[in-house]
Amino acid sequence: MDIDLEDNMKLRITRWFVGLGTALYLTSPAFAADTSVQHVEAKACKQCHEEIYQQWAGSMHANSSALKDPIHGAFYKNVIGDPTAEGVKTKKGTYPVCLKCHAPVAAMEGKTKLDAKPAYADGISCTTCHSFAKFKGTDAANGKPLYGIDAYELDPKSLYGPSGITYTTERVPEGAQWPTPVHHPVPLQGNRADLFKSNDACMGCHEKRSNFHGTPLCRTGNEYRMAKNFVSCQACHMSIVTVPKIKDGKVVDGEFVSIPDHSMAGGHDGKMITRGLAMTMQTERDGDKLRATITVRNRLPHAYPTGAPFRNFFIRIATYDKDGKQLWKNYKVHPIKDDPQAAFWLTLGDKEGKPTIPPKATQILKDSRLAPNEVRTLKYEIPFTGATTIVRAEALYDLMLPPIKAKMKGKLPDELLTPKLAASAEVRL
Ligand code: HEC
Ligand code: HEC
Ligand code: HEC
Ligand code: HEC
Ligand code: HEC
Repeated sequence: MDIDLEDNMKLRITRWFVGLGTALYLTSPAFAADTSVQHVEAKACKQCHEEIYQQWAGSMHANSSALKDPIHGAFYKNVIGDPTAEGVKTKKGTYPVCLKCHAPVAAMEGKTKLDAKPAYADGISCTTCHSFAKFKGTDAANGKPLYGIDAYELDPKSLYGPSGITYTTERVPEGAQWPTPVHHPVPLQGNRADLFKSNDACMGCHEKRSNFHGTPLCRTGNEYRMAKNFVSCQACHMSIVTVPKIKDGKVVDGEFVSIPDHSMAGGHDGKMITRGLAMTMQTERDGDKLRATITVRNRLPHAYPTGAPFRNFFIRIATYDKDGKQLWKNYKVHPIKDDPQAAFWLTLGDKEGKPTIPPKATQILKDSRLAPNEVRTLKYEIPFTGATTIVRAEALYDLMLPPIKAKMKGKLPDELLTPKLAASAEVRL
């Protein structure tokens, strides 16, 4: 069959025009020229991008401010201060750097009272990412790091996207076709494919971060470069998903839309964490011993786990009898204490070389997380009795390290403190 590409394009654009309809003009959110686009709330985009809105609303981006993310909120109050007070400064008397990534609109305006404006509490909103006009990189000429909003040029007057389509805020006639530009209620330019379809859209906030002492706490970007990979962050974190169409909060029967997934799942998502880790196990009997070899492989172009320095996972290996009663386990309290080879974590240290918390760290003592695509082998000699029938290894992912979890008990919802199963391997004898 012959496909006329130009006609195909006209058809797509016509569909958008038709999709818009007259009603939308009447109810379109007003964009007042005297405020910046960063203050247009996500709610204003919901009306036409309902499916994307729903994904975003459940994401850590929508919940990134100290008012909404209980974990970040607890750290922020501890290290910086009250997120509902104005004029908050760090111990060094500087503006709290956290806000440049976690509450970007407040940071653009040099404010710290996050409940003062909806756009401050909204965290990383539609109009934060979509007003990126340029990525400047994360190193300033003077060698200082550029974090979050400092790494981008944010346009106060226009939104941007990747499609290559031209938009106008003018009303366009009913049934209009190409070359009439597509109507968009908020100024929008579809000419930033380079930025939005590449890691540049993420690296401003995800590349790296060091604490006051210059100790690196997050290095996802460095890890990725070390992997010499060219798959974009979006390929995994914004894969194209087909979801039911939603209109006015209700699913439209039998209609679907395909969109780049704006839920951008990571460590908080029990399913996402299973995608990166492949674990296998082999066992061999040797008298009253069982020799087990466990292999774990990181399938990702960044560390597993990556991101915040307290993310970690550990491997529980245990034997059971035929009724499922546990006979032996590789640790008593936690592998970090009892079986270090089974603990995958970043150990931050102070000047004396003692383990410490992120704000106080002056060095990295040890990094036992899996490097990009690393394969690691763990060997065990396990006591074997006539009753031993099952050997089971489980990789368990934790958002925080045990000492932090102990402090947060009762202050955070249990589900954030419970390790999640990332991979398992089982041998039945
Ligand atoms: C963390 C940054 C980020 C946030 C927050 C964000 N987006 Fe996006 N958005 C992107 C990127 C990157 C793309 C391009 C994805 C691609 O083409 O690979 C995109 C693509 C889109 C597209 C084009 C969809 C298509 O079919 O190609 C629309 C529409 C969109 N976003 C709307 C929104 C709305 C509405 C919100 C808020 C509810 C939002 N975005 C929040 C980064 C973001
Ligand atoms: C009145 C309906 C309407 C509203 C409200 C609306 N949009 Fe759109 N938007 C559209 C249509 C139609 C398109 C073109 C087709 C598509 O990609 O879905 C579009 C496209 C986009 C794109 C893709 C840009 C590209 O590369 O072509 C982005 C990004 C976007 N909108 C962001 C937003 C954001 C952010 C808001 C809220 C501030 C918003 N839109 C509000 C109707 C709307
Ligand atoms: C303006 C800064 C900013 C930009 C740009 C940004 N992010 Fe984020 N992202 C954050 C912050 C801050 C968090 C942590 C929120 C929290 O947990 O409090 C986060 C969290 C995440 C998470 C972890 C979710 C979880 O479950 O813990 C993933 C995955 C992620 N972002 C992917 C992306 C991708 C992919 C892009 C590019 C398309 C991107 N981000 C762009 C700031 C940003
Ligand atoms: C091949 C797929 C893939 C690619 C490419 C990829 N990631 Fe991931 N990413 C994952 C998976 C799976 C996880 C969950 C396991 C983990 O946390 O390591 C994850 C986790 C994350 C997290 C969550 C960390 C946390 O604290 O919860 C962030 C942030 C992140 N990735 C950022 C990025 C960025 C930025 C890029 C691009 C430079 C990228 N990823 C590229 C698959 C990918
Ligand atoms: C360069 C951008 C950036 C800066 C600056 C920054 N963060 Fe983050 N933060 C992130 C990103 C991105 C994530 C989520 C993904 C990950 O784990 O890397 C995150 C995650 C976190 C988390 C984990 C949240 C959760 O839900 O598990 C905490 C806690 C946190 N940050 C605290 C802080 C504090 C406190 C500051 C200031 C002292 C700060 N961050 C400064 C980018 C930043």
